[in-house]
Amino acid sequence: MNQLFAKKPLSLLLEEMAGEHRLRRVLGPVQLTSLGVGAIIGTGIFVLTGVAAHDRTGPALILSFVISGIACIFAALCYAEFASMVPVAGSAYTYAYATMGELFAWIIGWDLVLEYAVASSTVAHGWSHYFQDFIGIFGLKIPYALTNAPFDYDPKTGILALTGTTLDLPAVVIAAIVTIVLVKGIRESASFNAVMVCIKVAIVLFVIGVGSFYVNPANWHPFAPYGLTGISFFGKTLSGQTGGGGEPLGMLAGAAIIFFAYIGFDSVSTHAEEARKPKRDVPIGIVASLIICTILYIAVSAVLTGMVPYDQIDINAPVSNAFGKVGLPWAQFLISLGAIAGITSVLLVMMLSQPRVLLAMARDGLVPHSFFGAIHERFRTPWKATILTGAFVALMAAFVPLRILAELVNIGTLLAFVIVCGAVLIMRKTNPDAERPFRVPFAPLTPILGIAFCLLLMFSLPPENWMRLFIWLAIGLLIYFSYGKKHSVMSRYLTKEIAKHGVSPAGSLATDINTKTGDADETVSK
Ligand code: ALA
Repeated sequence: MNQLFAKKPLSLLLEEMAGEHRLRRVLGPVQLTSLGVGAIIGTGIFVLTGVAAHDRTGPALILSFVISGIACIFAALCYAEFASMVPVAGSAYTYAYATMGELFAWIIGWDLVLEYAVASSTVAHGWSHYFQDFIGIFGLKIPYALTNAPFDYDPKTGILALTGTTLDLPAVVIAAIVTIVLVKGIRESASFNAVMVCIKVAIVLFVIGVGSFYVNPANWHPFAPYGLTGISFFGKTLSGQTGGGGEPLGMLAGAAIIFFAYIGFDSVSTHAEEARKPKRDVPIGIVASLIICTILYIAVSAVLTGMVPYDQIDINAPVSNAFGKVGLPWAQFLISLGAIAGITSVLLVMMLSQPRVLLAMARDGLVPHSFFGAIHERFRTPWKATILTGAFVALMAAFVPLRILAELVNIGTLLAFVIVCGAVLIMRKTNPDAERPFRVPFAPLTPILGIAFCLLLMFSLPPENWMRLFIWLAIGLLIYFSYGKKHSVMSRYLTKEIAKHGVSPAGSLATDINTKTGDADETVSK
């Protein structure tokens, strides 16, 4: 029991970091914000807007982006408070370890595996759709059998239907290329990312600027053909229309799908170690990148649904296709190219983050260190974990359809956000005097609203996602109790302390933060 709720002391975190080769503190607020935008804009806005508008919301997609954005802003403020308190690597996994103990840390780490790896498969699918759209402009086509996953969910009938294809080959190829690049050691650098962000943001601004001339306000009527709600409770629709498969339809149901578009702002917190002034700039980076993307997304969804009647929006490459439909093939070319570049950078960051989370868990002994902690002698990368991630991403992207993957990612990430908001509430109670360079405004209201909004979105996802989440977490707990708990570094630390002092160490993050956070930056940068 002691071990399950044992918190990782800050001194231990800093000690581990001091022994590592770390990047220098070079990132300022602009670069951090740009990294956030780089990780956020991708498949969500360029692809999932199509499925959401077409199947669940109609033009009310605009409001879906508002609701989802609000949920994320509440969660982002909570991430920002933690990132300023504990400016070290590991993001939500480390925050949970430091505040709620090992069991919660494991749950969130395992949940992040779901978030990053499955999100990568979704993003690879999105890349494939835009790639196919792009080569289609030149009259090129890959054989139909290699264009998509072999089955898909048909929202009209509510059943899984064969698509007549075998696998999504471009998605497999891009996953393989990114894996090779990551194993060889090319890391996301601020300057590479900055170029990608410029291209992406330019394309998004282009879509808004040029697209607005082609908006026909008649397309915004009816505004909410599927209604403004869409909530179910484990399969029972509480509010709104129900689709053929029992899934909720409506504006909230759409918000739950396009939530995917916002995922990535939390990755800014993983750069805390490279930030010049992490306590100030990481919160700025998290919140600013999210606000910028929220504004852009609302504008894009207004333009898209204004350009094309919602039931004619393409579900594979909706944004570029809309420009093709209004007779601007050159714009379709430009947008496809920008989307391909933009989505590639999201894929790079996601597939880079996954082995890092696994590496952090391996260092804590929760997964086998010999495999997940293995660093390649020449390339200095966690190559085994990277290849395993790549294989998993390629396999999922090859055979599982985009919408099923996206929903799974969303429910996992929403759970992570609920835990982080909850952790802020707990920390405020247990350690009211700890130093908080950034404080969530209006606490406890903001974290409570964060939890409420995230839960609302979780319940607006098709109910089978809960089952998939529970199965995933059950597998995780099985692994923890059969492996992680026994090999945990913390358990050895506790045993040592107990042998030394006769009791378990009282010093958890609480004590450490009060006494040591003040010099955390100096310690880290040594
Ligand atoms: N937010 C990222 C995307 O939309 C995951 O691709």
